[in-house]
Amino acid sequence: MTEILRDKAALRAQVSGWKRAGEVVGVVPTMGALHDGHLSLVEAACAGCDRVIVTIFVNPKQFNSASDLENYPRTEEQDAAKLAPYAVDVVYAPTPDQIYPEGFATTVSVTRLTEGLCGAHRPGHFDGVTTVVSKLFLQTGADRAYFGEKDYQQLQVVTRMAADLDIPVEVIGCPTVREADGLALSSRNVLLPPEARAAAPALSRAMREMAEGLVEGGALDSLRAGAEAEILAAGFERVEYLELRAARGLAPLETPDRPARLLAAAWIGGVRLIDNIPVG
Ligand code: PAJ
Repeated sequence: MTEILRDKAALRAQVSGWKRAGEVVGVVPTMGALHDGHLSLVEAACAGCDRVIVTIFVNPKQFNSASDLENYPRTEEQDAAKLAPYAVDVVYAPTPDQIYPEGFATTVSVTRLTEGLCGAHRPGHFDGVTTVVSKLFLQTGADRAYFGEKDYQQLQVVTRMAADLDIPVEVIGCPTVREADGLALSSRNVLLPPEARAAAPALSRAMREMAEGLVEGGALDSLRAGAEAEILAAGFERVEYLELRAARGLAPLETPDRPARLLAAAWIGGVRLIDNIPVG
């Protein structure tokens, strides 16, 4: 079994030995409830680094409601079993005081990139993410950090944050892992009632069709209206956003005249799903 460390002093002692030996250290930050999406990051980290740390911490600062935080799946034993086949050196599952000690008063906040998309609908969410991720980067001292494109805005924000703060870590984005029916894997998928789970692939399907329409020169507004209607007809309660953005910098686009991405958030069965795909 992979060793589980819960305090930063023990983690630091472990990592400093690796660093002295000149080993490249990779980190995969997670909130646990591991699935094949997380494991694809672990696999990439194991392939690219001498030592790999997987962090598991359900970060209260990035949740918008007490009930979402409370309902978030916590499955540490199963997580450890899922990691067993991989060459993970340490699971760092800190106790809350190791991240937010008594008197903690600092927020790491990225502007601009966090203003639209999920940032517009989840006030404070990205501040919570960048605060915890900057701490995880500093506590682990990792040379490389692996993040999923599934959370595309998060990937952009974390990359910007590390560069802006001169944290010497290379942020590496990895492709979204999907179910056979197209639904992007997510820890929240287990919260979907069966009917909602069956209807959920409509989101990625409508997005794919919309991306094809954009590549063929279709107008953004009518394609978006069609996609939203399809998503709602499938049983989604609400489309929070469905936007065409520049793949780098996330500027709003009318046409995919440079590398572009469609990004969406929508509610089904009381669960908020997000997805994004490249256009063209
Ligand atoms: P969590 O949702 O557990 O995701 C951990 C990492 O797994 C993120 O980089 C996320 O993008 C990636 N991931 C999730 N689903 C994926 C999929 N289907 N395919 C590929 N990668 C996927 O994201 C967080 O945790 C937190 O915000 C965190 C960065 C840990 C900070 O608390």
